[in-house]
Amino acid sequence: MYKACLFDLDGVLVDTAIYHFQAWKNLGKQFGYELTEEQNEQLKGVSRVESLNKILDWANYLATQEQKAAWLIEKNEDYLRLISNMNPSEILPGVLEFLQQIKDLGYKIALGSASKNAEIILEKTGLMPWFDLIIDGNKVSKSKPDPEVFLKGAEGLGLSPETCIVFEDAQAGVEAAKAGKMKAIGIGEAETLALADKIIPNFIGVKAAELLQF
Ligand code: G6P
Ligand code: MG
Repeated sequence: MYKACLFDLDGVLVDTAIYHFQAWKNLGKQFGYELTEEQNEQLKGVSRVESLNKILDWANYLATQEQKAAWLIEKNEDYLRLISNMNPSEILPGVLEFLQQIKDLGYKIALGSASKNAEIILEKTGLMPWFDLIIDGNKVSKSKPDPEVFLKGAEGLGLSPETCIVFEDAQAGVEAAKAGKMKAIGIGEAETLALADKIIPNFIGVKAAELLQF
């Protein structure tokens, strides 16, 4: 009965979290703040503007709207510079084999990412041709854990949410999938992804036909 797989991008298909972390860290230094890895974990799946708001909160820094707008541009320019050399070698292990399996099994494949840079990353890594539909940060107004990004994915594929399976590495993303009445497969550790229907550490050696049985 399941007809589509909806993938988050960052941390599921490619590891761009390291570049987001680096760019936020660089920005934080401007107001004397040192972002930690634990905090970065809480920024996964969170939109650019909400990430900045969280960091400013942690830093207890009151910024003007103008300052914030300038920093958002600066962070993204830094991030774009950091990802400028991304290539297919940065696709996470097992991902291509998994995509081939689900394609052979007849599943539709869509992207459900909060990133406004998703298409650039899909192009650079050569992942673009796998996707029937791309819903990214440019197409949604509400951030995960709101289910909008995945509901738009289901709608765009002409499917009901109940027939979709979401792959997510972030707690906010798993919550979004569940709020959208979809199955959620967590990629990563059980502690952070407790709400997921199934959890796998990564895609290495995963048998799609078994994993997608519910
Ligand atoms: C993903 C990442 C977040 C990032 C967000 C927006 O959800 O996990 O770390 O902040 O996308 O990305 P963008 O490329 O639009 O700044
Ligand atoms: Mg992610």
